[in-house]
Amino acid sequence: MHIGQLTDEQRIEYGRMFRYAFDSAKNNYKEIQFPEPDMPADWLHGISDETGLLCAATVIDFTFHIRDRKMKGGGIACLTTRPEQRNRRLIRRLMDHIFQHLRSQQVAVAVGYPFKFSYWEAFGFRLADENVLYQWEITSIIPKPVEGRHIREALAITPDIRAVYDECAGRHNFIACRSDFQWKWIAEADSFKFVCYDAEDRPTGYVLLSFMKNEPLLWPAIIHDPGRTFYVREAFWRDSVTRQAILNLLWSHRDQRRYAAWSLPVNFNLIDHLDNPRVLARTVRPNAMIRLVDAPLALRSISYPLANFRLVIRIHDATCQWNEGTFAVMSEQDTVTVVPAPAAEPDLACSVGELGQLLAGFRTAAELHDGDKAMIRPGVAPLLADLFPPRCNYLRDFF
Ligand SMILES: CC(C)(COP(=O)(O)OP(=O)(O)OC[C@H]1O[C@@H](n2cnc3c(N)ncnc32)[C@H](O)[C@@H]1OP(=O)(O)O)[C@@H](O)C(=O)NCCC(=O)NCCS
Repeated sequence: MHIGQLTDEQRIEYGRMFRYAFDSAKNNYKEIQFPEPDMPADWLHGISDETGLLCAATVIDFTFHIRDRKMKGGGIACLTTRPEQRNRRLIRRLMDHIFQHLRSQQVAVAVGYPFKFSYWEAFGFRLADENVLYQWEITSIIPKPVEGRHIREALAITPDIRAVYDECAGRHNFIACRSDFQWKWIAEADSFKFVCYDAEDRPTGYVLLSFMKNEPLLWPAIIHDPGRTFYVREAFWRDSVTRQAILNLLWSHRDQRRYAAWSLPVNFNLIDHLDNPRVLARTVRPNAMIRLVDAPLALRSISYPLANFRLVIRIHDATCQWNEGTFAVMSEQDTVTVVPAPAAEPDLACSVGELGQLLAGFRTAAELHDGDKAMIRPGVAPLLADLFPPRCNYLRDFF
C-alpha cells in the first residue's frame, strides 16, 4: 500500500469516489467537477494499492485567527473510502498520515465539519464553534435613520469587501484569515452583494444575500417556508451605525420576502433589534470541530492575558503520540516556551480534544472540570480562568 499525495490519475479516481460518496443521487460519473483543477497537489492525500485508489481526503490550507494570533491550520474535508473497501481502518491510517504531514508543515491545528461528531471525536476533534440560526419576520426589524452611510451593490467580491472582512474578522475568534482560494469559493456561491460606505466613501460593512428556493437547500427542516425567505449568507460591519444601515437594508426587503434567516455568532442577540422577539426559530447549531495537531506549537502560538506564568499540562493523545505527555508552559515577559516536563505534577490534565476546546476559547477550564473532562490541581482554577477566557468563535468558511 502507498500513502501520500495523489497522482494526476488518482485525482480522477478521487473525483469518482467523491461523486459516489457525496453526490450519489446523480447515479453516474458524468461531469465531475471535483477536485477543482487549481487545488494544489499537497491538498489531496490518499491510500492506494495495485488495484487503484482506496480512500482519499482533502486537506485545505488555512490560516486561522485564534486568541489574537494567526495560526497555520488544515481544513480536513471530503473523506471518502471506496464502498467495497470501507471498515478496514483505512481512514484511520490516512488520518495518521495527514496529521504527520500537517505537523511537518508546522501546522498547529486541524479543523473539520463532521458528518458525525462521534466519528471525528475518535480522531481527537472536538466541537469548537456554535452559531445561532435565526428566522424571523422581516417586518419585525426596528428601522432607524442612519446618518453618513450609504449602500451600493457590488457585482463581485471587491477589495472593499475583503478589507472589511479582514478588519472585522479580528473581532472574532477561531475565524479564517481568508486566502484568495477561500474568497474564490465565496465568490462562486451565488449571492447578491451590498457594501456600506461612510461619507468619505470608505467601506464600513457588507452583506451577502441569497434568495432561497422553495426546496430548502440549506438545513432542511430548519428553514420554514424557504420560498418566502432570504438568507443572509454573511455580514460584517465596522461600527454600530453600519450595522443599523445593514438592518435597514434587510427591512427594505419586506415586500419581496416575508422572512429573513441569518446564522450569527452566539453573542449577537438579533432579537434586541426586533420589535417582536417571538422569532420563528432561534436554533443553536454545532459548527466546526478543532483538533490540535501539534499541541506544544499551539500552546506557544496563542497570546495569553498574563505576561508571566508557569503552567504544567498533561495531555492525553491516543493518535498523535508527539502530543502525549506532560509539558511546562512558561511565559516570561510575554515570551512563551513549551518544554516536556515528564516529572512535573500537572496543573491541568485532559485529552488533546478538550485542550483544543480550551485553547479555542469554546470551553473554559472550569466548564471542562465540571463536565468531568479535565483534572485541575486544587488552587489552579483562578490562573486557568485568567489564562483562557472564553472567546467569540465564528468560523464562516464551510468546506
Ligand atoms: C465515513 C467513511 C469515510 C469511513 O471510511 P472507512 O475506511 O470505513 O473508515 P475506517 O474503517 O478507517 O474507520 C475509522 C474509525 O471510524 C469508525 N467508523 C467508521 N464508519 C463510521 C461511521 N459511519 N460512524 C461512526 N464511526 C465509524 C470505525 O469503526 C473506526 O473506528 P476504530 O478506528 O476505533 O476502529 C466511509 O464510510 C465513507 O466514504 N462514507 C461516505 C462519505 C462520508 O460520509 N464521508 C465523511 C465525510 S466527513
